[in-house]
Amino acid sequence: MTNPDTPTEPALVGSDLRRTYRLPRRSPFEPGAVRTAVDGVDLTVAAGSRLGIVGESGSGKSTLVRLLAGLEAPTTGTVHASGRLVDARASAVSSRWFRRETGIVFQDPVASLDPRMRVGAIVAEPLRALRVEGGHRAMVAAVLERVDLPADAADRYPHEFSGGQRQRIAIARAVVHRPRILFGDEPMSALDVVVRARVIDLFRSFVDDLGATLVLVSHDIGVVQRLCDTVAVMSAGRIVEHGPVSLLDAPTHEVTRALVAAAPTLP
Ligand SMILES: Nc1ncnc2c1ncn2[C@@H]1O[C@H](COP(=O)(O)OP(=O)(O)OP(=O)(O)O)[C@@H](O)[C@H]1O
Ligand SMILES: [Mg+2]
Repeated sequence: MTNPDTPTEPALVGSDLRRTYRLPRRSPFEPGAVRTAVDGVDLTVAAGSRLGIVGESGSGKSTLVRLLAGLEAPTTGTVHASGRLVDARASAVSSRWFRRETGIVFQDPVASLDPRMRVGAIVAEPLRALRVEGGHRAMVAAVLERVDLPADAADRYPHEFSGGQRQRIAIARAVVHRPRILFGDEPMSALDVVVRARVIDLFRSFVDDLGATLVLVSHDIGVVQRLCDTVAVMSAGRIVEHGPVSLLDAPTHEVTRALVAAAPTLP
């Protein structure tokens, strides 16, 4: 039975996405070189699915996520969310609908939290910027409790917390406005094994509760196997393999085989 609330449009569609960067000139007489980070990606993410993006370092995973999350504009190509064009160059007001639908967690919990802001203000930021109605203070307290932070966390500063706690603050900020698409770019990588397991559980429980679509970059195949139902394998800016996560059990493409072979086996 299909849920009448489930949108039939895909959550995200990237069409012929390309992103190039001009590198700094090494001399005034030579033109700067151009690097292609994402090189013609077509990708559909079904609503409610959980996509893992894997690939070797430098293959374009973070760039692709920044394009899909509307944080950066593609050099060419388009991103649509639920059928609507995502324009990374749009003003804060005209991109509010998309910000309202999305949350993102980055790898580095130190760099992603403003050290001068109290945790309560950091987590309330999306509510304020998106003009979400209701009592922000209560919403912040509820989400901080969900990520196991102490009751007084809202009044303290990020440096008063451990790396794992800071990443949970970042997760709280990403989900406080109840987004329908959650992005993560290596959100567990900077954490030790025990903390990582807890963060994986939190991701799963928020995605379950929100009925959200998940787009998760991880170089850790085990994390993708635990959290995702589909996987896209990137190499040199392209998606070389895309399908159910079970393809990691019997990889066919040589890039996927190498990634799986290099992955540490989980206990
Ligand atoms: N702002 C930028 N300016 C110049 N080059 C960039 C920029 N961002 C990314 N690149 C280049 O684009 C390519 C893809 O980078 P990207 O960060 O997307 O890869 P990645 O798969 O996320 O790698 P990692 O696993 O190391 O995080 C790399 O060659 C990188 O050096
Ligand atoms: Mg990256």
